[in-house]
Amino acid sequence: MYLSRYEERILKGEYGYAKQKAMEILVALGDLYDAERLIPISSAQIAGVSYTSLGDEGLEWLETLIDGRVDVLSTLNPSGMDLDRWRFMGIPVEYASKQIKIIEIYVKLGILPICTCTPYLSGNIPIPGSHIAWSESSAVAFANSVLKARTNREGGPSALAAALVGRTPLYGLHLDETRRSNVTVKVEMDLEDVWEYSVLGFWIGRVLKGEVVPFIEGLKRNDLDSVKAIGAAMASSSNLSMFTADILGDMKPYPCETISFDSSTFKDVIETLPGASIDRGDVDIVCLGCPHLSLEELRHIAHLLKSRKVRSDVKLWLFTSRAVYGAAERCGFIEEIESSGGEVYRDACPALAPLSAIGYTVMATDSLKMWFYGRHLAGVKTLFLPSTECIEVSTRR
Ligand code: F3S
Repeated sequence: MYLSRYEERILKGEYGYAKQKAMEILVALGDLYDAERLIPISSAQIAGVSYTSLGDEGLEWLETLIDGRVDVLSTLNPSGMDLDRWRFMGIPVEYASKQIKIIEIYVKLGILPICTCTPYLSGNIPIPGSHIAWSESSAVAFANSVLKARTNREGGPSALAAALVGRTPLYGLHLDETRRSNVTVKVEMDLEDVWEYSVLGFWIGRVLKGEVVPFIEGLKRNDLDSVKAIGAAMASSSNLSMFTADILGDMKPYPCETISFDSSTFKDVIETLPGASIDRGDVDIVCLGCPHLSLEELRHIAHLLKSRKVRSDVKLWLFTSRAVYGAAERCGFIEEIESSGGEVYRDACPALAPLSAIGYTVMATDSLKMWFYGRHLAGVKTLFLPSTECIEVSTRR
């Protein structure tokens, strides 16, 4: 891969250890994918934030980079806990102290302590056509598909490396030719609620693996929450990182293969999910907010909770970003939710929280991404339910 004189000097260590290590990662990645050169990025979004995923080895590695400073606007993925209200979540003190240390290191590197999987709702908003290096898979799908920015699905280390030198290798979804849709997904049923869009996204990921950019036609809703749900679920069942759609103003590719999604496909996805037979009475925690809830989603949940109370034997945890939390607080939604017994957390992802260590065993969620990662990372059984049923399971009138 071609390097400019400045980039060569970074690689030689003339700008410090952290930037040198970052450049080594980017050069290795660029060589692996036959990238011609590095390109400047306008922002980074870095995963590998929770103590659950980093562990002590990851923490030690981060400490070695302490002489570095990021070159571009950089934010973080969620951590394993609300950084202020972790005691309410029941997070063990030892876990919390390691988690706080991780955030402090990132802050020393110049990264903003905005821990969210919806950075585009929190001030990290790339413009169309801009090159970025993001690592949260749902945010990557949103950035490529909805915001029309350009990013590969970075790992935590490669996004951090890109942030430290303000560059990323030119390959994959940074190139025009790999961003063209090559299969049409025809939606032949009315999808009403956001959780149903999660089912569509999950199915697309399951049937279309590989170097594919699906074009989705026939969607009814054209709001942020539904496209956010499609990208998140699609990225959890596959490595797909971009889709196009008629509701996003994209052109239908022609000619190309067409596959259909109808009510029988929808039913089949739900009925064949592992854990579909879990007894609702076994649920001890309900988690909503994967990806982090938008203002409209919080408004909707506050409405659903009207004249209901969270049961004493079930927790109702909601997750959002600090920016959206602030707006929701101003609108009175947080107070409404909390007066019903719901708990709203920031900075955190329940899949990355130590749920089984706290004592939870069965989680219900309306997001297929959370359903997937809750089972694999948080060590709990997971049950996928419509949003309204999630509220019903966790509350009483
Ligand atoms: Fe966000 Fe965690 Fe879901 S990072 S997208 S809440 S799995």
